[in-house]
Amino acid sequence: MDDIANILERVEELRRKIEHANTLYYAEDAPEISDASYDMMMQELIQLETEHPDLAAPNSPTSRVGAGAVNDFAPFPHGMPMLSLDNAFSEGELQAWEDRNRRTLGMDGTAPIEYFCELKIDGLSVSLLYENGQFVKGGTRGDGEVGEEITQNLRTISALPLRLKPIKSDSSSLHERASALGVPARIEIRGEVFLSHTEFARINEELEEEGARIFANCRNAAAGTLRKKDVSVTASRRMDMFLYTLGECEGWEFGTQQELLQTFRKWGLRTNSHVQLCRGITEAIAFCREWETRKEGLDYDMDGVVVKVNSFALQRELGQVSRSPRWAIAFKYPALQTKTRLLSIEVQVGRTGALTPVANLKPVALAGVIVSRATLHNEEEIQRKDIRVGDMVVVQRAGEVIPEIVEVVFLERTGEELPFEMPTVCPVCGTHVVRLEGEVVTRCPNINCPARIQQALEHFVGRNAMNIDGLGERQLAQLVRHDLVRDAADIYSLTQEQILPLDRMGEKLAKKILANIEDSKHRPLAKLIFALGIRHIGAHAAELLADHFGSLERLQEAEVPELAGIYEIGETTAVSVAAWFAEESNRTLLKRLKEYGVAPENHSDTERSDRLKGLNFVFTGTLTHLKREEAEAIVKRMGGRASGSVSRNTSFVVAGDSAGSKLAKAVELGVQVITEDQFLENIENVVDSLFSSMHE
Ligand code: IVH
Repeated sequence: MDDIANILERVEELRRKIEHANTLYYAEDAPEISDASYDMMMQELIQLETEHPDLAAPNSPTSRVGAGAVNDFAPFPHGMPMLSLDNAFSEGELQAWEDRNRRTLGMDGTAPIEYFCELKIDGLSVSLLYENGQFVKGGTRGDGEVGEEITQNLRTISALPLRLKPIKSDSSSLHERASALGVPARIEIRGEVFLSHTEFARINEELEEEGARIFANCRNAAAGTLRKKDVSVTASRRMDMFLYTLGECEGWEFGTQQELLQTFRKWGLRTNSHVQLCRGITEAIAFCREWETRKEGLDYDMDGVVVKVNSFALQRELGQVSRSPRWAIAFKYPALQTKTRLLSIEVQVGRTGALTPVANLKPVALAGVIVSRATLHNEEEIQRKDIRVGDMVVVQRAGEVIPEIVEVVFLERTGEELPFEMPTVCPVCGTHVVRLEGEVVTRCPNINCPARIQQALEHFVGRNAMNIDGLGERQLAQLVRHDLVRDAADIYSLTQEQILPLDRMGEKLAKKILANIEDSKHRPLAKLIFALGIRHIGAHAAELLADHFGSLERLQEAEVPELAGIYEIGETTAVSVAAWFAEESNRTLLKRLKEYGVAPENHSDTERSDRLKGLNFVFTGTLTHLKREEAEAIVKRMGGRASGSVSRNTSFVVAGDSAGSKLAKAVELGVQVITEDQFLENIENVVDSLFSSMHE
């Protein structure tokens, strides 16, 4: 057995390496190790700390895992108030702000004021306290004077460094205004916590599966997640953050906003890279205009641009009025809202029996798409907003998100509108519905409800699950109606004779569907686990389970403690998984699936290799052999990263036909460009096995 000194050394090495990997990934956008190696280090550290509790340290990376619950959030007084910003809604208002600045500063010449432009991130503002480089605690904005302490939740955010990286004293940027320690003695660092569109979609997909209430937009989801009392939930949702300003600060001074952000980055804090130093307001206006269209390409929400006077000396001269500084302004884009008529409310039954009201709207154009439906979430939401059938309503599309009803236009009420009532029986099977105390969701409790069976089957054959092309909503509905399919296993018993009588079916299509069903028998394990529709198991959790257990047989026998011990799997999820596999009818289903030859590709068969470790790929243009998602999946399985945009950190751009701006950017930055064939040749032998499993 290793002696304790060796273990301590290893523990410290792991902590250093993990935090270093975080800095490279989040602050510098230049990862050097694969996700798989990162996870391995984390697992090893968790294990060592569990075996040797005396080696635990408050700021160890494992403190991010998010075990435990918070009872109440303690008040979090800010050392310096968190201010808000004045808004400008037009270029004229920006110009007026510039004129006022010039007057206040007594600048009547032509010398331009330097402005620093940043994206206005639409998340939640937070303040983080660091003492001697150590993260001590953090809180929400609250009323600007006092927020709520949410230290445990914040810790789960990998982008948040638990220790600031000291700036080396030989660095040229270290001057008399900076501490010799390389970090300030005490500093309140402020920024925005948010959820990416991708993560938001994943969370909602998971909530929908659970029959829980989904979030209307990224901001609400971020707010809900950040203030979770069960911190394991926060940990299971990957939140992100950008930092951009400070409150109280001892032991460091900054000359400009630009320098502040550069210093933040050196300390390992994540900052947004879409910034610009502008000489004069005209350049700042151009930046605002540019991002009005560019914002559509981002994977997170922004709701404007913040224009700041760059020099801190000038900022001090300008000062503040009431709660907003005079030296900064938020340029806001118009919200994507419009009015339309609510025609009817329809109640849908989900896979878990959850009843969800959906609004049918008079079709209306909104931000480039025609909107005719909007989610109404649940009964409470409808009552809270007092939404009635026939109302004129304001609908909004935020980002890539499902449209929602913001409010009713009460002025246009005629009195003819009808209040909504949740049905007392399931609209599909007629069973009395139930709403458990303390839950917002009303459910149909009948597990044989055709709607539930139909939804479960649709989930099973879905793209991210078993991906059985040709077997969609319409076909499944007919198969269920004719009692040919009652559960997922029945799909594998289907014959050509049974499929042929379906609407719009021909021999060729029937054969194709049967071939697709056959192919689906060997999907990766994670896909099957996801397809089963276990409560709390979304696509990501399914991957975690597949990674950990490697086979369905092992997963089936797992007990709660082992399940809950998996990084990112919480207690609730663990209990739900164990309960699912303990259920007799589910075990029968698995047995029947196996008898029909459903044999998922066990995880170890396609173990992630490390061949592409540390390499970043961008695929652009039309590829001939692979779909883009397939190419990206290959890269990820081999330990590399695939990204949507070209930067100096891109290792290779794989350019297909008619590649455009990304190719140009690669050439400009001197990034190596290869063809799809070159890509395939290089990874050929490793890809052979993956390739055959991915191509139907
Ligand atoms: S600077 C003195 N920069 O917008 C105020 N704020 O309406 C310092 N926000 O409460 C704020 N992105 O939550 C600043 N790049 C950015 C920002 C930003 C988003 C938020 C922040 C603030 C609100 C003001």
